[in-house]
Parts: sequence; structure tokens; C-alpha cells
Amino acid sequence: MKVKQRKFDVVIVGAGGAGMRAALQLSEAGFKVAVLSKVFPTRSHTVAAQGGIAASLGNVTEDDWRWHMYDTVKGSDYLGDQDAIEFMCRHAAEVVYELEHFGMPFDRLENGKIYQRPFGGQSLNFGGEQASRSCAVADRTGHAMLHTLYQRNVSANTQFFVEWLGLDLIRDHEGEVLGITALEMETGEIMILQARATLLATGGAGRIFEASTNAFINTGDGLGMVARAGIPLEDMEFWQFHPTGVYGAGILISEAVRGEGGYLVNAEGERFMERYAPHARDLASRDVVSRALITEIRQGRGCGPKEDHLLLKLDHLSAETITSKLPGIREIALKFAHVDPLVDPIPVVPTAHYMMGGIPANYHGQVVAPYKTSPDEVVPGLYAVGECACVSVHGANRLGTNSLLDIVVFGRAAGNQIIKDLTRNNHHKPLPPDAAEQTLTRLDRLETQKDGENVAATSEALRKTMQTHCGVFRFPDVLKEGVEKIGEVAERVRHTEICDKSRVFNTARVEALELDNLIEVAIATMIAAEARHESRGAHTRDDFPERDDQKWLRHSLFFSKDQRLDYKPVRLKPLTVESFPPKARTY
Ligand code: FUM
Repeated sequence: MKVKQRKFDVVIVGAGGAGMRAALQLSEAGFKVAVLSKVFPTRSHTVAAQGGIAASLGNVTEDDWRWHMYDTVKGSDYLGDQDAIEFMCRHAAEVVYELEHFGMPFDRLENGKIYQRPFGGQSLNFGGEQASRSCAVADRTGHAMLHTLYQRNVSANTQFFVEWLGLDLIRDHEGEVLGITALEMETGEIMILQARATLLATGGAGRIFEASTNAFINTGDGLGMVARAGIPLEDMEFWQFHPTGVYGAGILISEAVRGEGGYLVNAEGERFMERYAPHARDLASRDVVSRALITEIRQGRGCGPKEDHLLLKLDHLSAETITSKLPGIREIALKFAHVDPLVDPIPVVPTAHYMMGGIPANYHGQVVAPYKTSPDEVVPGLYAVGECACVSVHGANRLGTNSLLDIVVFGRAAGNQIIKDLTRNNHHKPLPPDAAEQTLTRLDRLETQKDGENVAATSEALRKTMQTHCGVFRFPDVLKEGVEKIGEVAERVRHTEICDKSRVFNTARVEALELDNLIEVAIATMIAAEARHESRGAHTRDDFPERDDQKWLRHSLFFSKDQRLDYKPVRLKPLTVESFPPKARTY
């Protein structure tokens, strides 16, 4: 089959904040940039980010980027790479002011400066008092950022391919990435998008869990592409459960609620966080708060007839605070929990929220993989930023509002790196004759499968397996059984069948192809979690309750093709400041 081709300088897969920030850098530099998105760009999952973007502006409390760096290293439970963390925290103020100048409508203080609110795990003086570091647009910060970046990209002539699904990487025999294959959903047509640089910015994969704050589009497409191309996935055992998803619906209730003074109570009306984190209380880091909620439920202090959730109280805040700073939360609570937080608490439960692991990348956005003697050899032509990438700035646990920061800092950095690389390499390498073969084989298998597995039922089995076997607390037998079960699901994924073979807007085909990506993420997660015999950050093992820096201060790398794990050291040396050595982590 002849596959049509188009040529660009850069192809970016994903139009969230990371993809659009990189695209802006490149389009403004005069490159021909294609951005693919499964949805209209302003509907990308960045739109759901609520509470803010972290930067040590010092507008409300005094602040310093070194304190932000310390908090991020500590929050990561020392698994974060300190060179990358320094890079991110040093550049935070700069990228926030840049967004302000792009027109992002930040909330303002009386003195006209950007409004900043407290968030979990953010402190002054290396762990002293609570910092106000999260720059906010009410509780719709991601929404404001996405619209700002989209408008700037339109004016910079970025070309958007809306409702396109990236399918597979194209690599030549030297391993250089020369573009991708993609599916145009409207026509069902497959196309090769040839590029001198390919940037993956496909976001998270929270849809591997049953209860998730993630959009339906978060199916780990970039991770699937990379895994199928033989590149490992890093630190996939580390998943963040946000403490406050709406009970029964999973939708995010921003940590901003606690930042503005809300707090959690159990069935006895007790402010239980005081027992788990006496200093930071409700603003401890998310892994700590989520474990506390689950412990309260397990010990019989959960609320409601099933004693299976906790309550988030904010009715003591002024109506003015709720309606001006948390209007989206009030709307979500009214629509999905049927309570008005002006008068009633919101029922909440920890919900899968963020993938700390992902495609191994450095702080220039270059994808890296072990090769010969280096664990971090650059994969030529390939870049990754945002949640799909593991840089690793979040390590074993991300701090709230460091994700919006991550996407703009590393989106811009990747843009700058690509500009440098393309200046050195100014021609398209020829495509291999079998450029689209992997994709055509996958599609052909799907078209011709007989007596196969139903896609929806298999996806449901995947999500149930992950939810049951790889949650907030992890148990040895449950994990072992989880590895077996997810292997069985993977076997089913290899035999999925779609009944509707039509081409135009065939969402059944799209869902089957997305499932190929979800399973890569799920298997990597389960196997890496079963193998890591310690508790660190969001990975909490019942049988190994302590962090073990002797054995496990290292990143995992999961290779899909032979289902193998390898490890590489954590980068403990920052760029210019002294290292923060691992120590006991309390809040
Ligand atoms: O709670 C929140 O607003 C989420 C923020 C984040 O995940 O960074």
C-alpha cells in the first residue's frame, strides 16, 4: 500500500502546554512545524490543570528558587535528578513572566503583582514555613495557559493537525528518528509525516486506572510509540494518586482548596492530617496525604454508609474566596457531588492523577536510552517533554503545580535544543523503504482479526487489573498476581477485533490503537512496581515499608520487547549548587 507523505522541519505529537510551548519556540524561529492532536488543541488535558504553576516569585511570602529546588528534591523522595530539578526551578520565574507577557491572565494581588497561593510540600528556608509559590488563574490555570499558548501559536503560523493520532516512530538502521506515521481520524487515512526532529508531548496515561482525574484522551500514545520502537520506559512504578478526586466520579478537586484554607475530616469530624503530618497537615506532599486518606478508610473512619471516602471542608471560607478563587471547584462539586461547598463538605477519595515516569529524557528534551557504556545516550532526532517524559524532575512523587512548570520550562528548552540541532543538520535524511511497515502490520492485524477480543471489555479488564493490583498501597501477593493478570490482558490486546471497519471517523479503530499504548504503560508499571522492593514516594509496599537508598536509589528502565528491567543511577549532582543528599522525609 502506498502511504502518502508530508515533510516538516519538526513534527510535534500532542498540543497540550508542553507541545505548544515547544512549537511556539520553533515556529517563531522560522521552522515549519506540524502539531498533531487527537482533539482541538484547547481541549488538551492541560486544560484540566487547576491550582497553579509553581515559581519562586516571592509576591506573597518571601521566596528563593533554591528553596523550591529543595522542596522538589525532597518531594521526589530523592529520586529526582538534581541537575534537571535545578534547571526547572531556576527558570521558573522567567517562564511565568514570559507567559504573563504572552497575555496569560493571572489573578492579581492588590499591588498588581501575580497572585500566589500555598500548595503542598512548598516551604521557605529549606523546610521552614509554608511558601505561597503557586501562580494562579483562579482554579483554571491550565485553561488560561492553553488558550494563551494556542493564540500565540496561531499568530506564529504553527500548523495544527486536529483529530490526528500519532501511531509509530520511523527509525532508520542507525536508530535515528525520521518522523512518524499517523492516522487522520476524519478520513481514516494513514500518512507519513517526515521530520528532521520529532517531539513527543502526548501527556499522561491515567486511563490505565479505573478511577482517574485524567481525560479519556490520556492513553499514553507517546509511551506506546517509544516502547514499540525498542526504547525503554523509565520509573513507571511511580504513579501519583491525587488525594481529592470527587468520590464516585474521580474528577479533580484542586489542592488549591487546601491552599486557600480548606481541610480534610474523617467520619468523626477529626482533622486527621494533624496525626500524619503535624507540621504541614493538609499541605503535606500528595503521597503522604493520599496514604493518610486510605489509612483512615482502612481503619474504619471513612465517611458515608460504605465508610469509603473522606470529606473536604471549605464552608468556613468566605463566599467571596470560594466564588473568586475556586469557582470551578464549586461548579464541579455542584454537578458531580451534588453538594454546594459554600455550605457542605465535598466527598473525596484518592484518584490516579499523574505519571511520574515516562520516556527517558534529559533537561534539553532529548530522549536518552542506554547504549554501549552510557545509560543516557541521546536518541538522534527524538525529543520528549511534559508528562509523557521522565526528565526526571518529579522522581517518586510530584509536588502540586510543578507540572505546569515542567511543561513550559522543558517545552521551551526542547524548542531551543531542536533549533540548535536543526541548525547543524539542515537536510531530511531519506526514509527507509519500510517506513510505514510496523503501522501497516498493526492495522492489517486489526482489520483481519477473526473471533477476537472486544476492545471495550479488554480495556475494562486492563483498568480493573491496575486499580486492584497497583494502587496507593501495594502488597506482594497482589502485585505478583497483577503481573500475571496484566500479562493475560496483554495477550487479549494482541487479538482485539473491531466490527466496524469503516474509515470515516471510526472511533472503534482509534480506541483499539489507543489500547495498544495503554497496555505498554500498564505492563511497564506493574512489572516495575513488583520488582522495586522498597517504599519511596508514591510507591508504597506493605512488605518493604522503608526507603532503601543502598539498593534502590536508582531509576528503573523497562524494555517492552523482552519484558526486561534495567536500572541507572540517580543524578545527585546539581548544575551549580550543592547537592541535597537523601535524608528522612517528614512534613
Ligand atoms: O490540585 C491541583 O490543582 C493539581 C495541580 C497539579 O497536579 O499540579
